[in-house]
Amino acid sequence: MVMDAPQTDVLSIELIPVNELEELGSIALVTIRRPDKLNALNSEVMSSLKAMVEWVEATDVVRVVVLTGAQPNAPPEGKRAKPNAFVAGADITEFVGMQKDEIRVKFTNNAVEALWDLSKPTIAMVDGFALGGGCEIACSCDLRIASERSRFGTPEVNLGLIPGYGATQRLTHLVGYGKTMEMIMTGEMIDAAEAHRIGLVNHVCTSEDLREFTLKIARIIGSKSSHTLRFGKQTIRASLDLGLTEGIAYEAEVFASLFDSKDQEIGVNAFLNRENPQWEHK
Ligand code: COA
Repeated sequence: MVMDAPQTDVLSIELIPVNELEELGSIALVTIRRPDKLNALNSEVMSSLKAMVEWVEATDVVRVVVLTGAQPNAPPEGKRAKPNAFVAGADITEFVGMQKDEIRVKFTNNAVEALWDLSKPTIAMVDGFALGGGCEIACSCDLRIASERSRFGTPEVNLGLIPGYGATQRLTHLVGYGKTMEMIMTGEMIDAAEAHRIGLVNHVCTSEDLREFTLKIARIIGSKSSHTLRFGKQTIRASLDLGLTEGIAYEAEVFASLFDSKDQEIGVNAFLNRENPQWEHK
């Protein structure tokens, strides 16, 4: 059953077919829409993101999620244009007057964790500032693709804070201990080229090419067996929590279990017969 996508004023969902025949389902292009506030994560964005993740998990229609930020609106006459942003962080105005217990509730089981837990592939498509919670949302996606004008950073130190949506952990896994220390302790931004050099982003391209380039990768991923992808993601994730010996044993278990799946048979036969695999788990 196809449920309606949970769109809100601050979150839109565009469904783009994975392939021309449209039998492979869709890529959900999810756009955070608060461009006048550089797509900062207020409570409404966070609850909309959570609802989106629940919907994506439950529907068979979506095979890959691409997450992005809305482009700036045209400025009013005589005003300067707002800059491009993926997400410029948590909405700082919501921090005013907050006490420890309220913040703990706000940051527990949050949308960034929900996104991280999604079993389907996720790609952050970054065009502009990805700061604080924006950098952390990108880190909680499986891949990150950025335009040349993008800038990444964890500036919470300037607010007397540390990151609260996982950067101390996930950023460390992506770029290493030393670089994470530097980013979090200085609060300085890095440009897209540096983000690429240190492994924070998978690819950098021009802002004009960003959408098509990202969709090309999403289509490649979307054309694989969703069953295989789910187990691949789960097994790679296990490397973050397990030691090498345990991790290799876990991989061996999952690898063997895939021989019970129809898609393994379909994939191997398709290779041997020089055909394209028609996956059971589309
Ligand atoms: N929370 C709430 N509002 C934010 C925001 C955030 N994290 N980031 C930007 N905004 C708002 C600004 O207040 C401004 O609103 P206004 O036009 O109604 O005054 C609007 O977005 C545009 O931002 P502005 O600061 O005017 O743009 P800029 O080009 O001068 O600077 C940044 C861009 C990204 C350098 C700057 O906005 C910034 O440092 N943002 C905060 C980043 C941050 O600390 N994130 C971590 C939060 S935990």
